[in-house]
Amino acid sequence: MARVTPADIRAMKRRGERIPMLTAYDYPTARILDAAGIPLILVGDSLGTAVLGYETTIPVTVEDIIHHTRAVVRGTSRAMVIADMPFMSYHPSQEQALRTAGRLLQEGGAQAVKLEGGAVVADTVRRLVDCGIPVQGHLGLTPQSVYQLGGHRLQGKTEAAARRIIDDARSLEQAGVFSLVLELVPAPLARTITETIAIPTIGIGAGPYCDGQVQVLYDLLGMDPDFKPRHVRRFANLAEIIRNAVCAYAEEVRAATFPGPAESFGLDPAPAVSVSDEP
Ligand code: KIV
Repeated sequence: MARVTPADIRAMKRRGERIPMLTAYDYPTARILDAAGIPLILVGDSLGTAVLGYETTIPVTVEDIIHHTRAVVRGTSRAMVIADMPFMSYHPSQEQALRTAGRLLQEGGAQAVKLEGGAVVADTVRRLVDCGIPVQGHLGLTPQSVYQLGGHRLQGKTEAAARRIIDDARSLEQAGVFSLVLELVPAPLARTITETIAIPTIGIGAGPYCDGQVQVLYDLLGMDPDFKPRHVRRFANLAEIIRNAVCAYAEEVRAATFPGPAESFGLDPAPAVSVSDEP
């Protein structure tokens, strides 16, 4: 089966078909998501906070994203794999953006890239798209600007701020993005943008009116019991499942009931081989 393309994603919006998107960072998880029919898999720079233990996404490098994108691509045959462009990997110049995106496709094997920002990155987006690289935009709460935004808080609350985000969405659409992530914006604003632009919007903490939804996989699986932002719904409690399994394993090792008697492996329950010093 062929991989999902930007045209497929745009067609889903035209048909009114909701688009589920998730992050993944490794091969086995990517296999599960692909088999479940998730059309868009993002190797997000949330890698930094969800997997690598950083406080923000800022320290994530191009090498980090390439490394994890390769694993995710190996685990998929159908989903479009989108690689996030890390902080400062596209800001200094269009040439650098082109080099980074080129590496994410050539070395990582991604089929598309995502970058944060509005009108200010529109020319960069156009340059990437002109070179044949599908680009997904990202507006609202853009985590790479966390220090400027003063934390992970709702964006576009005033009329002026909402107007800026709508203008940014239009700029990105004109520049050629095939879809647009809207993070932490009020639901009515997400609705206006969704109805204003022809490309699909993918919301996270942006209410129910977007064309699709994206979540950081480990958030919805409940991998971190201490982290539950308001926009996250836990569909599983993996932390508890893993802890219970690990405790059961450790208990059995301590009680010498795991791995079980040698016979159960078809091994000869002979006495231990004696070791002598003689040659
Ligand atoms: O890095 C990421 O996972 C993201 C999503 C939250 C959209 O940017």
